[in-house]
Amino acid sequence: MTPDLVIRNVALPDGRTGQDLLIHAGRIVEVRPGIAVAAREEIDGGGLLASPPFVDAHFHLDSVLSLGRPRLNESGTLLEGIRIWGELRAGLTHEDVVERALAYCDLAVAQGIGAIRSHVDVTDDRLVGVAALLEVKRRVAPWLTIQLVAFPQDGLYRAPRGLANLLRALELGVDVVGGIPHHERTMEDGRRSVVELCTIAAERGLRVDLHCDETDDPASRHIETLVAETTRLGLQGRVAGSHLTSMHGMDNYYVSKLLPLMAEAGVAAIPNPLINIWLQGRHDAWPKRRGLARVAEMWAQGIPVAFGHDCVMDPWYPMGSADMLEVAKMAIHAGHLTSRAQMRAAYEAITSVPASILGLEGYGLDPGCRADLVLLEAADPIEAIRLQAARLLVLRGGRVVARGSSRRVRLELPGRPGELDPGRPFPS
Ligand code: FE2
Repeated sequence: MTPDLVIRNVALPDGRTGQDLLIHAGRIVEVRPGIAVAAREEIDGGGLLASPPFVDAHFHLDSVLSLGRPRLNESGTLLEGIRIWGELRAGLTHEDVVERALAYCDLAVAQGIGAIRSHVDVTDDRLVGVAALLEVKRRVAPWLTIQLVAFPQDGLYRAPRGLANLLRALELGVDVVGGIPHHERTMEDGRRSVVELCTIAAERGLRVDLHCDETDDPASRHIETLVAETTRLGLQGRVAGSHLTSMHGMDNYYVSKLLPLMAEAGVAAIPNPLINIWLQGRHDAWPKRRGLARVAEMWAQGIPVAFGHDCVMDPWYPMGSADMLEVAKMAIHAGHLTSRAQMRAAYEAITSVPASILGLEGYGLDPGCRADLVLLEAADPIEAIRLQAARLLVLRGGRVVARGSSRRVRLELPGRPGELDPGRPFPS
């Protein structure tokens, strides 16, 4: 039997170099230096970094690429974004959502993203977004894994049919239970929504991922209820709190109590560095809080942390390019995650940690894993983030699904070398 593919001489995220990857029938068969097998196809990795694909643990495929419709967000706040989205949502069509989401999925694949957890708004009684994204999920499945979260954007109780629509979305096949406790009318309604949503997930054997405490208000402590309900209902390892921006401004003593409880319950945190630093702190005079959850402190407690992209060109964020390396880079800067170990952990927060939060099967580069990988123009994970390295090759199931290129430039200055490669990797 001739194996399908061997990729020669790559570095791996764990620091191994000079490795060959033998791939057959869509799976990784062997990983070691100098595999003496002739495969049907050979790729020279050139000593560069082969990584499992990026995983975006938090995104909104229903609003993506809708920037300016029907107007721009002038205040830059979360609440104006929610109002604009409400105006757009009322007239959404199935075709529009499918077209925008598919366009973004193409971009995501080209950028080496292999899986996206996307929230889908269930506020509108028509559930247009749900039907559209279920279709998109099915259509892109051969090259991109999508996991959907039923998200009551306007509040489980604050929207007239929030709860009923969330249950309908789960019946239709949406994978994960979502919520937004800090946006309910009262703290008590928020607390009740967390209890109800966790109970729904426990009864149905589903995962939970709530937009939780996405506010500058340090008194927003719904994460506390989410942790307690996770423990009470035995949901350990299946629950994530997204954003957690209030943690930025919380009392330090309270955080010293909260984080061990999060670790004990196995609740994961999903900050969204680009969006958090964009939307938060808008009501502050100087000094301004930047709204990122306390990542280093959570790591010190053993809490799983993944970074999400959240939005690209929509009512909340007019920038973004499906580049998870940009997400990690912002996290490193905004969170002072500057040691070598922390920068490597930031890379894990866009690869292996979100893969585990989503429960992806066969993720990684060990023998037996799915042959999904990205060849990056960098020597190691830290350099990949530093350069926002070009994706030279993207493989899904052992098949090339995207090819990138290097960023060479010709310099025209007297006495200076002509050909420069700003993307050239350096061993570090
Ligand atoms: Fe979000």
